[in-house]
Amino acid sequence: MAHAPDDHGHVADEDRRDILFLATGAVGAVGVASAVWPLVDQMNPSASVLALSTMEVDISALEPGQEMKVSFLKAPVFIRRMTEEEMEKAAAVDVSAMPDPDPRNPNAAGLVADVNERLIDPARGIIVLSGVCTHLGCVPLGDGAGDYKGWFCPCHGSHYDSLGRIRKGPAPENLPIPVASLDGDILKLG
Ligand code: FES
Repeated sequence: MAHAPDDHGHVADEDRRDILFLATGAVGAVGVASAVWPLVDQMNPSASVLALSTMEVDISALEPGQEMKVSFLKAPVFIRRMTEEEMEKAAAVDVSAMPDPDPRNPNAAGLVADVNERLIDPARGIIVLSGVCTHLGCVPLGDGAGDYKGWFCPCHGSHYDSLGRIRKGPAPENLPIPVASLDGDILKLG
């Protein structure tokens, strides 16, 4: 509580402490504000960082039945061009009876893991998958491997079909569809 100065103009000790406390608090607030700004500034990604977070792949050489594996952000990505026969077989399976009926595709939320929801380009049979097993993160073998002619993860025996859907083994989910877009023969990841 503030006290009136005494006859000699002196302020009580209690009031001096209040004044000192307020002054220290103001300096502290300025210090915090100037310390936070550089951190916020550093969190805005530079153009070079943004460029690293996307990648373009030319898929023009991919024939039906062929597969490519690329590394994007230090993780494998599978790109495959399915044959007509593979697509017909994949479409004939009852998705509701599969271990994971979810398309695991950010562009097909709420739908089921059917051909149109798994392929980035159903007309040409192009599928793009994250190449990391959903069990413990190993990289499955491709080129029609496993009991379902898709990908096979030998460490604990997870079998994925030609659409990257888990069909047998301990993996709980389908191989995820990464963020990607296709413009003609140029596939953009990220
Ligand atoms: S990590 Fe794929 S089956 Fe274990």
